[in-house]
Amino acid sequence: MTLSATGTYRIAAVPGDGIGKETVAAARRVLDVVAQNEGFTLNWIEYPWGCDYYFETGRMMPVDGISKLAESDAILLGAVGRADVPDHVSLWGLLIPIRRSFDQYVSLRPARLLPGIESPLAPSREALDVVIVRENTEGEYSEVGGRLFAGQPGEIAIQEAVFTRVGIERIARYAFELAGTRTGRVASATKSNGIVHTMPFWDEVVDEVAQDYPEVELTRFHVDALAALLVLDPGRFDVILGSNLFGDILSDLAAALVGSIGIAPCGNIDPTRRNPSMFEPIHGSAPDIVGKGIANPIGQIWSAAMMLEHLQEFKAASGIIAAIESVIASGIKTPDLGGTHNTDEVTDAVISAYLSSTGVK
Ligand code: IPM
Ligand code: MG
Repeated sequence: MTLSATGTYRIAAVPGDGIGKETVAAARRVLDVVAQNEGFTLNWIEYPWGCDYYFETGRMMPVDGISKLAESDAILLGAVGRADVPDHVSLWGLLIPIRRSFDQYVSLRPARLLPGIESPLAPSREALDVVIVRENTEGEYSEVGGRLFAGQPGEIAIQEAVFTRVGIERIARYAFELAGTRTGRVASATKSNGIVHTMPFWDEVVDEVAQDYPEVELTRFHVDALAALLVLDPGRFDVILGSNLFGDILSDLAAALVGSIGIAPCGNIDPTRRNPSMFEPIHGSAPDIVGKGIANPIGQIWSAAMMLEHLQEFKAASGIIAAIESVIASGIKTPDLGGTHNTDEVTDAVISAYLSSTGVK
């Protein structure tokens, strides 16, 4: 990866499967307008990898896929998965290898209740505005394990979780740093009452890191209780730090609480910048609505804004997020948010809101 200071970025687009093709196209439209307006250049290279590619070639991406992506400054991913390909084949053939090869150890997942969206929370809800910092390369997502005695009554499967001191320490540090720029609170998701080796270790290392951040308040919650409290009293939370699996589950919960997983963004980030980071919406390929033109493009566009933020195009990124907010507040929404607009209309509305906020008509 060569992060240029020239304002020219090489962006790998991997639309993937299902609605990913529709949402990536929408986000690219927004980004091209924004780039032109802000005076930087995005050189897109689109890779047609995913389940169609799998049926043609037997692989989700080519053997040299990772080295092709390594030439980019950042990656914009749509969604991966299709009903006729087992999920562990599609995801472990494309998404997970990218996260791991590029050591994108932070999965950053903001969830904020925007004006204009009804949340299923109690009417007395406080504003929900959290960022989930999910460990993204180890933990419960591991290839360590196996199956024995296939097809026999005594068949067994063993799956080992892998937690390393380095892995926990670096994700905890990221969460504490981030909390320092927000309200100064970290909630760490644990389950040390039931999972007696890895979770006490997680707690110990998080506590050690906390010593370096005396100005940040650390509270530890068992993940089940945290899930309940996020619904009952979301104002209690700011930065939520979790392992790979806990962060995954909590981020879908948070996304649902802010109205729809269709708007929730994600950055898979290598904070060292040695490798390209990857930005993708939290939602999946949504086979039930493919081709209907009604996929919510906001999660993808918001992820693309996070990509620009990572590329340090801060003005462009905040311009897009402000445009998203104003479009939603004005009631232009796809059906998942109770609206009647389609993907193109929402995308067009984001572009015009962005342009009018910058004074261009
Ligand atoms: C996510 C997704 C993935 C994950 C799946 C598709 C492997 O749920 O990014 O949240 O669990 O990491
Ligand atoms: Mg998930």
